[in-house]
Amino acid sequence: MGKISDKVRYVGVNDLDKELFEGLWPLPFGVSYNSYLIIDEKIALIDTVEGGFEEEYISNIREEIGDRKVDYLVINHMEPDHSSLISFIKGIYPEVEIVTNAKAVPMIKGYQNCCIDNIHVVGEGDSLSLGSCELQFFMAPMVHWPETMVTWMPSESTLFSGDAFGTFGALSEDITDGYDMFCDEMTRYYSNIVGKYGTPVQTALKKLSALDIKRICSTHGPVWEKEIAEVVNLYDRLSRYEAEHGVCIVYGSMYGNTAAAAMELAESLERLGIPYAMHDLAGNNEDSLGVSGALRDTFRYDTLAVGSPTYNNGIFPPVETFMRGVAARLVKNRRFYAFGSYTWSGVSVRKLNEMAKELGFELIDEGGSFAQAYSREKLDMDRVASLI
Ligand code: FEO
Repeated sequence: MGKISDKVRYVGVNDLDKELFEGLWPLPFGVSYNSYLIIDEKIALIDTVEGGFEEEYISNIREEIGDRKVDYLVINHMEPDHSSLISFIKGIYPEVEIVTNAKAVPMIKGYQNCCIDNIHVVGEGDSLSLGSCELQFFMAPMVHWPETMVTWMPSESTLFSGDAFGTFGALSEDITDGYDMFCDEMTRYYSNIVGKYGTPVQTALKKLSALDIKRICSTHGPVWEKEIAEVVNLYDRLSRYEAEHGVCIVYGSMYGNTAAAAMELAESLERLGIPYAMHDLAGNNEDSLGVSGALRDTFRYDTLAVGSPTYNNGIFPPVETFMRGVAARLVKNRRFYAFGSYTWSGVSVRKLNEMAKELGFELIDEGGSFAQAYSREKLDMDRVASLI
């Protein structure tokens, strides 16, 4: 698993135990925390891994370099899934020089809760020689935190990209490529974790387009070699909020009435051959990815149909949480339809429409608010589907 090339080695780990990434996002297929060694006259380690993997991590490193020491620890990104073991590495290799940018320095000191010395601060375009090869550093702020940078290895046209081009999903023995297998989880990762930062991602993509990239080593998921065009294209489309034609149906239901309307809409779309995905946020599906999956398909499809009963004179809470997640990610260019049941006062559809308008979404009509049980007479979903 370790050898990517003579000089570049994989020393990351798989996490198959964590249930929620960032305490929020389900991990049905696990996640990898990727770290890489560059072996030259000097040895550089690119990023570390999440805490709890100390033994496996150092064993991976020693398998590649034996008793040689790590000279440089490059920190591209300070989120703890990549920076937790800085002190651990420093303890094993006391002379290691940490290479990072100025914005990361206070984060290192704060997160590691100690005074870390021997920090080599780099700026945009700076280089570091390892002997026969060199590394170059480019800032990529807000992809995904303000201190984020990427590391470029010109001699192997290799980009150590931090979270960019990352994906949920643990790695198998073959760590290279696999776009078809990872595409869904990459879209979910992007929408959940990086989705708010479309503009900074676009800025970074423009900057990186000057490089002739032949290999991408991200901090999560596969090393991309043969499928670079596919993953760059996916990130480009997602960060421009460009979507394919189809409907993401997201709903919550207390007694099955709003759910019945959602099912009816799905059947109407099916008859018209319009692609769709359904997400029940009321926790009625054991396999559901909840808001995480709903955000993924909000990024995937150009139309969002949201169903909510009226609850406490407002939107059903899990649906409101989802809509706030959409707003927080600055999603643009979507068409929108709201529907939902009420008992004595229909409020949820109006409030959903207000949220959608604030996001600049185009309402396909005034929405479908219906009293009590769903019936086709109250809300004709064939008509709604024909508007999509
Ligand atoms: Fe994988 Fe933003 O950390």
